[in-house]
Amino acid sequence: MELCASDITVRFAGVKAIESVSVALGRGEILGLIGPNGAGKTTMVNVLSGFQRPHIGKVAIDGAGTQGRSEPWFARNGVVRTFQAVRLFRGLTVSENIEAALSSLSISRLSARRRAAELLDYMGIGGKAGLAGGALNYGDERRVGIARALALSPKFLLLDEPAAGMNIGEAEDLSRLIQQIRRDFSCGVLLIEHNMALVMNTCERLHVMASGKTIATGTPDEVVANQHFKSAYLGSEAA
Ligand SMILES: Nc1ncnc2c1ncn2[C@@H]1O[C@H](COP(=O)(O)OP(=O)(O)OP(=O)(O)O)[C@@H](O)[C@H]1O
Ligand SMILES: [Mg+2]
Repeated sequence: MELCASDITVRFAGVKAIESVSVALGRGEILGLIGPNGAGKTTMVNVLSGFQRPHIGKVAIDGAGTQGRSEPWFARNGVVRTFQAVRLFRGLTVSENIEAALSSLSISRLSARRRAAELLDYMGIGGKAGLAGGALNYGDERRVGIARALALSPKFLLLDEPAAGMNIGEAEDLSRLIQQIRRDFSCGVLLIEHNMALVMNTCERLHVMASGKTIATGTPDEVVANQHFKSAYLGSEAA
């Protein structure tokens, strides 16, 4: 069972943000999608989650085509993503932010509140359920973003820079949590992240992009040894 993007090209005003890139995420695996700023990582997550239609190429969920489908359909079929810039409703409480995500499912308000409390506990921020969304620090905002995604019972969870703004200890906690999410939800996780320690500790496999193209794939050890990876990350003298 996998979420599979084949031979994807996306253009913005004629400029290729992604050119002929294929990515497959299996259920139960943690795949790191890494690369310098502007590499096309977020655009690829947008394609994988139905927010952006590719100009060329196809996305399939467990072998079923997704052509013509939009983002709510992807979410109903288990593909759920978080946003690089967290979008919390600042005037709602933290709990209500999760309940809003649950409102698309036909469950009662009471069940939604209970489920929100469980998910906030799971993310380690149960004590903050009653705070305003706008009162949270950056790290907690990211945790709520993940809780909101988990509310939709993902089969494939796509995390766009979840550790941005977290300190080293928080990023280590997040690494453990991502591995726990993979087990508890039996889902595949795609992790976009600039924090290399987090990526190397958390992911079994990496896909490296630069300037819209795939430049390396493999295990973290294989990628670290790859010349294209070295020159993209460390400059040409390291290549
Ligand atoms: N809506 C858009 N309109 C025009 N250009 C865009 C749009 N979205 C992305 N781009 C361009 O596409 C390229 C890839 O952007 P993308 O956001 O996917 O990169 P990224 O790898 O996520 O970068 P970062 O690490 O900075 O988040 C960039 O050149 C970006 O400027
Ligand atoms: Mg991005």
